[in-house]
Amino acid sequence: MDIWAVANQKGGVGKTTTVVACAGLLAETGRRVLVVDLDPQGSLTTYFRLDPARVTRSTYELFKTPRVPGRDALYTMLQPVASAEITLFPAGLALATVERQFRSDEGVGLRLSRALACLARDFDHVLIDTPPVLGVLMINALAAAELLLLPVQTDYLAIKGLERMAQTLQMVVRARGRELRYCVIPTMYEPGSESSAQGLRTLMRSFADQVGGTVVPLDGSFRDASARGITPSSYAPHSKGVRAYRALLRGMGLLDEGARRSNPPSG
Ligand SMILES: Nc1ncnc2c1ncn2[C@@H]1O[C@H](COP(=O)(O)OP(=O)(O)O)[C@@H](O)[C@H]1O
Ligand SMILES: [Mg+2]
Repeated sequence: MDIWAVANQKGGVGKTTTVVACAGLLAETGRRVLVVDLDPQGSLTTYFRLDPARVTRSTYELFKTPRVPGRDALYTMLQPVASAEITLFPAGLALATVERQFRSDEGVGLRLSRALACLARDFDHVLIDTPPVLGVLMINALAAAELLLLPVQTDYLAIKGLERMAQTLQMVVRARGRELRYCVIPTMYEPGSESSAQGLRTLMRSFADQVGGTVVPLDGSFRDASARGITPSSYAPHSKGVRAYRALLRGMGLLDEGARRSNPPSG
């Protein structure tokens, strides 16, 4: 099971979009994909037309008691996404209280990785959406993931923010004692804009080894796809934005025919 987290301490940079776009493309190859909403704002949950205010069994359940739910209990929390072969572990409003209520509970940083271990046979790929705060929820995502995707807008302030965040992440990763690869995804790039081009150059200088070969352009079809609650690749499979995410995954060897699984998604 591959586990990726998508993070950035800035909001509105394309985290949730990256989760949904990659999940859609991976599910199309036949992979069994689980998306996990760890953001108290619940954008990922809302994207797929579930109301975080009405979800009763959410990722909050992982924190409520010290005992991590077993596989059967976890299954009562997972929701099939109607529009795609994706399974959602939704967020609920109560998630907003986790930082305050459970911050000092023993083992609180490992709840998600323990839960995902119970589901290791059920999914091929997990994508975790995170809040723009480096707290308990983010620590859980970082502890569970082996790859961190960092979408960043190609503008000056966003890149400076990323540099600061990279330093903080280094500390967390050192504490976890296991390497965490990360991949910076320049996003909302405006071709023809001098500031966007300049931003991209700065990003390439600071993160030469981490920037993948893909730049995600500004593309209105992401908004249109979210307005319909469907994945970008099912809404506009040939849009330039979807092509960029496809290139990202192909660059990781994930969209080749050989990577296609024969077993159908199970729920
Ligand atoms: N490449 C892009 N081009 C145009 N709009 C985008 C792009 N990526 C994301 N968006 C839009 O920008 C807004 C914020 O994106 P979102 O993924 O919710 O950010 P975050 O999760 O980091 O807060 C959403 O309306 C989304 O549809
Ligand atoms: Mg989001």
